[in-house]
Amino acid sequence: MNPDQVRLAYNTGAAAYVSAVPDPGVEAPIDRAMVDAFIAAVTAAGADPLVLDAGCGAGRMSRYLADRGCRVRGVDLSEGMVSYARRDHPDLDFAVGSLAALPYPDRRFAGVLLWYSAIHTPPAGQSRLFAEAARVLRPGGHLLIGFQAGEGVRDVSPVYLRLGYQVRLDRYCYSADQVAGFLASAGLREVSRLIRRPRDNERDDQAMVLARADDLTGR
Ligand SMILES: C[S@@+](CC[C@H](N)C(=O)[O-])C[C@H]1O[C@@H](n2cnc3c(N)ncnc32)[C@H](O)[C@@H]1O
Repeated sequence: MNPDQVRLAYNTGAAAYVSAVPDPGVEAPIDRAMVDAFIAAVTAAGADPLVLDAGCGAGRMSRYLADRGCRVRGVDLSEGMVSYARRDHPDLDFAVGSLAALPYPDRRFAGVLLWYSAIHTPPAGQSRLFAEAARVLRPGGHLLIGFQAGEGVRDVSPVYLRLGYQVRLDRYCYSADQVAGFLASAGLREVSRLIRRPRDNERDDQAMVLARADDLTGR
C-alpha cells in the first residue's frame, strides 16, 4: 500500500485502534515470550539498551519495553497514532517518520522492534525497510519482527467498519522464510523463530523472527 494511504487509515482509525488494542495484554502469552526474549537479548549486552519501536503506533509496546529496562524511542508514520503515544506515555520519546527513511543515525540502537508494522508494506518495499532497520542497529544488536504469516493480501477495512470507521487498509502476509530472506539480505542473521496457529478471531498464522546484526569486531 502507498504510505500516504497507510498514514490516512491510521490517522482516521487511531481512536478505534487504541481502544481495541490498548496494551500487550491482547497478545498471546507465547508472542509476549518472544518479546521477552528480545528484551533479554538487548539488555544482556551490557551496553546502553536503547531500542527503537519502529512503527510504534500508540506506544503500547514501547511502554512494555520501557517497563522492562529498555530505553525506548518510537517512530510511526501516523501523526494520529503518535499523538496518542505522546498523550499516554509522556515520559517516552516519539517521532513521526517512515520505516523506509528512519530519522536516526547509523548504529544507534541495541534493538529494533518491528511489531506488526511492516505488514502494510508490499513486497517491493520490504528490502528498503529491512536495510533501514539494519542501518540503525549496532553490531551485535537484535531485531524482532512480528507479523501475520502466509501469503497474499488481506483487506482489513471491514475490521474498522465494524468499529464505525471508514478506512481503506490492506495488509500483506509473508512466510517466515521470506522474512528470514529479507533479514539476510540486509545482513541480519536469524536467531530463532516462532510460528503459531490462529487463535480467537485471527485469520492467519502469526510469526515472530528474532535476528542479530553480527558483531565482527571480536573475530
Ligand atoms: C498494526 S499497527 C501496530 C502498532 C504497534 N506496533 C502496536 O503493536 O500496537 C501498524 C503501525 O505501523 C505503522 N506503519 C505502517 N507502515 C509504516 C511505515 N512505512 N513507516 C512507519 N510506520 C508505519 C502504522 O502507522 C501503524 O501505527
